[in-house]
Amino acid sequence: MPRAVRFRRYGGPEVLEVVDVDRPKVGPDEVLVDVVTVALNPGEIALREGAFDDVWPADFPEGQGNDFAGIVAEVGGDVTGFAQGDEVIGFAPRAAQAEVVVVGAGALVAKPAGLTWERAACIAGVGSTAWAAVEAVQPQRGETVVVSAAAGGVGVIAAQLARLRGARVIGTAGRGNVAFLRDLGVEPVEYGPGLADRLAAAAPEGIDAYLDNVGDGNVDVAIGLGVRPVRINTIADPGAARRHGVRSRAQVDASTPEVWGHLAAMAARGEFVITIAETYALDEVRQAYRDLAERHTRGKRVLRIRPA
Ligand SMILES: NC(=O)c1ccc[n+]([C@@H]2O[C@H](COP(=O)([O-])OP(=O)(O)OC[C@H]3O[C@@H](n4cnc5c(N)ncnc54)[C@H](OP(=O)(O)O)[C@@H]3O)[C@@H](O)[C@H]2O)c1
Repeated sequence: MPRAVRFRRYGGPEVLEVVDVDRPKVGPDEVLVDVVTVALNPGEIALREGAFDDVWPADFPEGQGNDFAGIVAEVGGDVTGFAQGDEVIGFAPRAAQAEVVVVGAGALVAKPAGLTWERAACIAGVGSTAWAAVEAVQPQRGETVVVSAAAGGVGVIAAQLARLRGARVIGTAGRGNVAFLRDLGVEPVEYGPGLADRLAAAAPEGIDAYLDNVGDGNVDVAIGLGVRPVRINTIADPGAARRHGVRSRAQVDASTPEVWGHLAAMAARGEFVITIAETYALDEVRQAYRDLAERHTRGKRVLRIRPA
């Protein structure tokens, strides 16, 4: 029997179990994928802790994980675009942390050969989110853009996508990420008390757009520095988005196979880097989430389900 992550009640990482599950059946429009890698995202922690029980209640025993990469094992009778053995990138809501998943053929795109399995797992989640955020504020050549949490999973991609549009990018991060951001062509500014003053000093001509990936008062800072609400996007602070009428485009606004394919091709060509902080085995899922919950990940943490 294939194994999968499940939890039977809301709680901390200790509620996560790796259990045997029935092999899913493949419908006519569906594809069964042998999962190779799965990305970990902070939103999964909130779901597992029950923070979204009123809007997205768990159906116990609940699965976990969304964005993955793998190898097609079986296709339904009506599927034409994929065949056994194809390497794919996909999205399987609350199900991806498993040895096999079944998804509709429309939830997959081909994985470029030049993209590592670990990086491919991050395309549909943080890749789409960063894409949506950057599209929301449309950075222009020569503009100055601030990206908060620029060393994190979403931020590091958003910062590079804004750079690719010709913008000067200032990224907020802790001291330990200053050199890391500089190497990516992102100008680091440390977060914490006095952030607004440091940003004003770094951008005396003004800030044109602001991409918030952490909350922590960043939208207030952006407004205080005179950034127009229409050029501010937050993926982490819906309250501030409502208060100030700023944008809040995120994963759901850009997560399509077309965007995944575009991002995957760009990443495979080395146009931007998906930084992998650490890779874990399926049985290490609890530790992986403990580490992610520290909220100091540089790039992404990924589960490696099988060799490929
Ligand atoms: N709505 C959506 O579709 C969607 C999608 C993806 C993510 N999100 C949300 O977006 C947020 C970011 O996700 P993520 O995956 O990028 O998180 P992440 O990878 O866990 O972020 C870690 C990064 O945050 C930085 N950081 C921590 N506190 C900070 C602060 N006060 N100011 C600036 N940087 C700080 C850390 O930098 P240091 O190590 O240097 O401290 C680290 O690099 C999360 O809240 C997540 O739930 C929403």
